Amino acid sequence: MGEESTHRKVALVTGANKGIGRGVAEQLAALGMTVVIGARDPLRGEEAAAAVRAAGGDAHAVTLDVTDRATVQEAARQVEERFGRLDVLINNAGITGSGRVSPEDARDQVPSSVDLDMVRAVFDTNVLGVIAVTNAMLPLLRRSPAPRVVNVSSHAASLTLTSDPDGPFAALLPSAAYAPSKTALTALTVQYAKELRKDGILVNAVAPGFVATDSNNHTGFLTAAQGATVVVRLATLGADGPTAGFFGEEGPLPW
Ligand code: NAI
Repeated sequence: MGEESTHRKVALVTGANKGIGRGVAEQLAALGMTVVIGARDPLRGEEAAAAVRAAGGDAHAVTLDVTDRATVQEAARQVEERFGRLDVLINNAGITGSGRVSPEDARDQVPSSVDLDMVRAVFDTNVLGVIAVTNAMLPLLRRSPAPRVVNVSSHAASLTLTSDPDGPFAALLPSAAYAPSKTALTALTVQYAKELRKDGILVNAVAPGFVATDSNNHTGFLTAAQGATVVVRLATLGADGPTAGFFGEEGPLPW
């Protein structure tokens, strides 16, 4: 372990080989953190880590499939062996589950005709995967002087926003998979925050906005870097920062 790594904050970002997670990894590295890039595909993870290093950051890749317990445990073991602790966990990995890429066009998620296997797969990654990774990393987070957990949710998670027939999200098709999985993730965020508040671990959910990534065939209007900024803000909260919150770039979001 290098001299520097004992002083730098260490952040793990799941699904960080591309998209918003990659943007978050780049920005945390630019702030001086050591970034651990979680990726299912070791080659893609290594490529992303090499790119962050080429830009002057400190980055390492770890093989991590949030639905595969063995890789989650092994990733925790590697972070422990290399850094001895974790300061920031970004639960970013997520899937839409839809054969359609744009949320306006996700007809295969409409509740009355949705395929249950798709719903299971989406919840497995977007919800159970977050529990698995968080619980594996918690012993390492507890060794940090200022641990922060950020769960990447979505505006589509907001029951207030999505139930408003005249609101800005009225055009989104009803979804029995992606949107409720993100609502569950936001709810889970509150429960973790409640348990960990006494330990000084701040846990918040964020909605990055509609970001152009592979998940929506690049139909979003924000760049990955723009979507990453709110995630980074919650990852770098001071001791008096909020916990159990749900935030977008525009501020607190309704549940
Ligand atoms: P993306 O498809 O570009 O990136 C998703 C990342 O998650 C990829 O690196 C992928 O390999 C990884 N991933 C998927 N399943 C995984 C698994 N089982 N284990 C480990 N990694 C896995 O999509 P994007 O848009 O960057 O999504 C990142 C997060 O942001 C997701 O949680 C998504 O739901 C959320 N989000 C995205 C929005 C957008 O407009 N793009 C809007 C709101 C939320």
